[in-house]
Amino acid sequence: MITWRELWAQTEAEVGGRPEARWLCEEASGAFGPEFTEALDEFATERMLAHLDHMLERWRAGEPLQYVLGHWSFRHLDLMVDQRVLIPRPETELVAEVALAHARRALDALPATERVRCADLGTGSGAIGLSLAFELPRGRSEVWLTDVSEDALDVARANAAGLGVAGGGIRFAQGSWFDALPEALRGALHVVVSNPPYIAEGDPAVEAAVHQWEPHTALYSGADGLDAVRLLACTSADWLVPGGSLVLEIGAHQGGAVAQLVEAEGFAPVEVRSDLAGRGRIVVATKK
Ligand SMILES: C[S@@+](CC[C@H](N)C(=O)[O-])C[C@H]1O[C@@H](n2cnc3c(N)ncnc32)[C@H](O)[C@@H]1O
Repeated sequence: MITWRELWAQTEAEVGGRPEARWLCEEASGAFGPEFTEALDEFATERMLAHLDHMLERWRAGEPLQYVLGHWSFRHLDLMVDQRVLIPRPETELVAEVALAHARRALDALPATERVRCADLGTGSGAIGLSLAFELPRGRSEVWLTDVSEDALDVARANAAGLGVAGGGIRFAQGSWFDALPEALRGALHVVVSNPPYIAEGDPAVEAAVHQWEPHTALYSGADGLDAVRLLACTSADWLVPGGSLVLEIGAHQGGAVAQLVEAEGFAPVEVRSDLAGRGRIVVATKK
């Protein structure tokens, strides 16, 4: 017989992090936050111990903690994640924040009966698009979540189902970038947002665990990493309303190149925003 207090200490010794050990124990016990604190002196059942062992086995094999836990938080959402989708990153929370600000601004200029129309291209777990649908006023948004990967869309759909935004105007479409969208949306979107794959094939700086576990369609995009961004830069203007916004997550050294690409397509102004570490990670551009 062993208590959760003892198991937490044992797990911490193995994984080397107190919060990480707690998340694993919470998952295994089925008690989260204050409930877990209250259960610290309770004994773990056989079934709970087996669950914890299984998760630790996966963690020992190098699987990222987020996949082992099966969910991860992103802004206000707790998203299901597995190997079908990229693990949502903290810098992408800022991308969603910027897209939200632009969507809210567009909404302010619309009659009260109209919805702001947004597209999150390459949605993966649904992190950005579902945040838009969840955080924009109820009944006032139409958010398209697209991905080339049907597997990723299944995860995004499951996450949407758990959101409880009935009538939230969430739409899913499978296909490559804008090809996924219905023709009626051409020239009608207020915000296009994407965190596309932007790593150069064979980039030696990519962490081994990222390369081994996360989907390569979510990571790599051609010899310089910019294949997807180039396509998005040169097709987005067709799909946006005049004054509409393009918001792109980019790699830390791509700001100058991507800003030039987008400016060449007639967007103005074009701005490169920095993340909390001061690295240019978001391109924001307005269609003239
Ligand atoms: C960097 S991940 C971003 C996932 C999610 N938006 C996020 O921020 O966590 C890129 C996503 O783009 C998708 N993708 C790759 N190529 C695509 C294409 N040609 N058309 C649409 N989506 C694509 C991948 O499947 C992946 O889900």
